[in-house]
Amino acid sequence: MNILVTGSSGWLAQDLVPRLKRAEHTVIGLDPVPGPHTDVIGTVADRDLVRRTIRDHRIQGIVHAGALHKPQVATHDPARFIETNVQGTLNLLQEATAEGSTVDRFVFTSTTSLMISQEIRDAHRRGIERAFWIDEEMTTLEPRNIYGVSKLSAEHLCRMVHDATGLPIVILRTSRFFPEEDDMAHEIIQSGANTKANEFLFRRLTVHDAASAHIVALDRAPQIGFDTFIISALTPFSPEDCEQLMEYAPLVVHHYFPRYREIYARRGWTMFDYIDRVYDSNKAMRRMGFVCKTDFGDILAQLDREDGV
Ligand SMILES: NC(=O)c1ccc[n+]([C@@H]2O[C@H](COP(=O)([O-])OP(=O)(O)OC[C@H]3O[C@@H](n4cnc5c(N)ncnc54)[C@H](O)[C@@H]3O)[C@@H](O)[C@H]2O)c1
Repeated sequence: MNILVTGSSGWLAQDLVPRLKRAEHTVIGLDPVPGPHTDVIGTVADRDLVRRTIRDHRIQGIVHAGALHKPQVATHDPARFIETNVQGTLNLLQEATAEGSTVDRFVFTSTTSLMISQEIRDAHRRGIERAFWIDEEMTTLEPRNIYGVSKLSAEHLCRMVHDATGLPIVILRTSRFFPEEDDMAHEIIQSGANTKANEFLFRRLTVHDAASAHIVALDRAPQIGFDTFIISALTPFSPEDCEQLMEYAPLVVHHYFPRYREIYARRGWTMFDYIDRVYDSNKAMRRMGFVCKTDFGDILAQLDREDGV
């Protein structure tokens, strides 16, 4: 298949593009920043460029991962988010469905961040007694920053274009897979590696799993038609745990992973005192047949191996 990957110089693409190529797809990368997987230097906001790229390369599948995202909220004007994330997505959708286009599937990289309102973000401070159980059924979406607002708008454009044209579109609301420290790191007691390990319980996945979800979505899009999936490492928790997760999370983690304390103690690691949200990725498993390969249990096993246990 001829596949256009936007954001081809980014973190996700460095895992995704080589794998698509190894599977014998022809991949055209588009990104304003040069990189080893980028063939077209330019922006999705340039509709002529988008049209030419789709036409000239007889693109069949689009993975739209290019975006301004969370780290840029602090540095970029909101108008740039609209231009890139909203107008850019509309350009791709319109050119993908224009007369003569060969595109027959579209995968949009979205974010779980758009499901997090300021109220959820501040839940613990506001004395809310239960962690939020977050799945695709959550319909009141009040993203708290321009990143989430622009991604939610782009999701609406996807739905609108699917309804009007039937183009198969799969939206992947991925949780964290960035390698850097959290931009709220000053609020977190644990080290970077400790924090990331903890997050695999409820809000993180590996970049490799994020790329795998895109590969599966591309493959399944024609059967799926249109749908939205949360993509995150499978959580061990259930909605019944939500009260205790907010009250004292280490007890809940101990219940599911009795050895975690011992493994963590060897490194001087600790669990978060409370967990205020859980992303449930079961729908992706049920409907798309996708499950992340790495979950918290695998992280513990990896720590054991590193320690020679
Ligand atoms: N990294 C995460 O933890 C995370 C979590 C949830 C969702 N996402 C989403 O996954 C996607 C990929 O993220 P990433 O971690 O690889 O980020 P990244 O910043 O490493 O990559 C994004 C790429 O998009 C490119 N880009 C920016 N403006 C563009 C434009 N106008 N046209 C085309 N490309 C443009 C950037 O140059 C960059 O190479 C993004 O859509 C992001 O919103 C990422």
